[in-house]
Amino acid sequence: MNIIFLGAPGAGKGTQSRMVSLQFDMLQLSTGDMLRDASMSDTSIGKEISTMIDSGELVTDEIVVTLIEEKLKQGHKGGFIFDGFPRTLGQAIALDQLLENNKTALTAVIEIKIDNEVLIDRITGRYTCLDCGEVYHESIRPIALNKFCDSCGSKNLKKRADDNEFSLRTRLNEHNDKTAPLIDYYLSKGILYTVDGLKPIDDINKEINEILLK
Ligand code: AP5
Repeated sequence: MNIIFLGAPGAGKGTQSRMVSLQFDMLQLSTGDMLRDASMSDTSIGKEISTMIDSGELVTDEIVVTLIEEKLKQGHKGGFIFDGFPRTLGQAIALDQLLENNKTALTAVIEIKIDNEVLIDRITGRYTCLDCGEVYHESIRPIALNKFCDSCGSKNLKKRADDNEFSLRTRLNEHNDKTAPLIDYYLSKGILYTVDGLKPIDDINKEINEILLK
């Protein structure tokens, strides 16, 4: 099974991807995480990526598709979850081609639909475990164990540099201009499913499970 999570920044793509990857033994491929890793390298490309992420603009298709291609070559028996990829029509077409080359295809594209009003709170309240990737929120989903990640026990909990109102505005514009048109692309392929991202995390997860087990 290969699935995509589509949705605005803060819609809950990472949260649900992580849950589904554990439930279905799939490999979560988050281009945001991959790019944040790549941005740490002390090279001109690393610096270019870092500037783009911090401003909220999309990184070029060429860089992102190359990262995904490398991961797909490694394979994964349970299939892949594309979290935050594709984000442009060019990326979507490239993904179709890469999957075809690997003699596989997309099973479902899950759009997590959300109102813009809740995004600022979700984004500014978010923090992530840098060791295992677990996603938390100051009020909605706080860690139970004081200062330590519930999932792996790490103390390495951080807020993202691009999680501020200025960057969020650019991220939302990028999403509306370049990523939202993918909804029609996948609708026309008959593999698009939409879930309500305003529901509680576990309810959304239940709906996604039902879609995937159909
Ligand atoms: P990326 O890391 O993908 O960020 P994003 O798309 O902006 O998405 P987020 O990670 O912010 O949100 P999410 O939907 O995963 O929400 P989450 O589950 O964390 O990309 C960052 C940057 O990298 C981009 O701006 C771009 O520069 C670059 N990039 C990445 N991919 C690219 C690509 N393909 N092409 C080009 N450039 C690319 O949840 C958010 C918060 O809400 C959390 O605190 C969570 O606990 C909470 N929450 C989740 N679900 C719920 C719920 N149902 N109810 C209440 N709270 C909830």
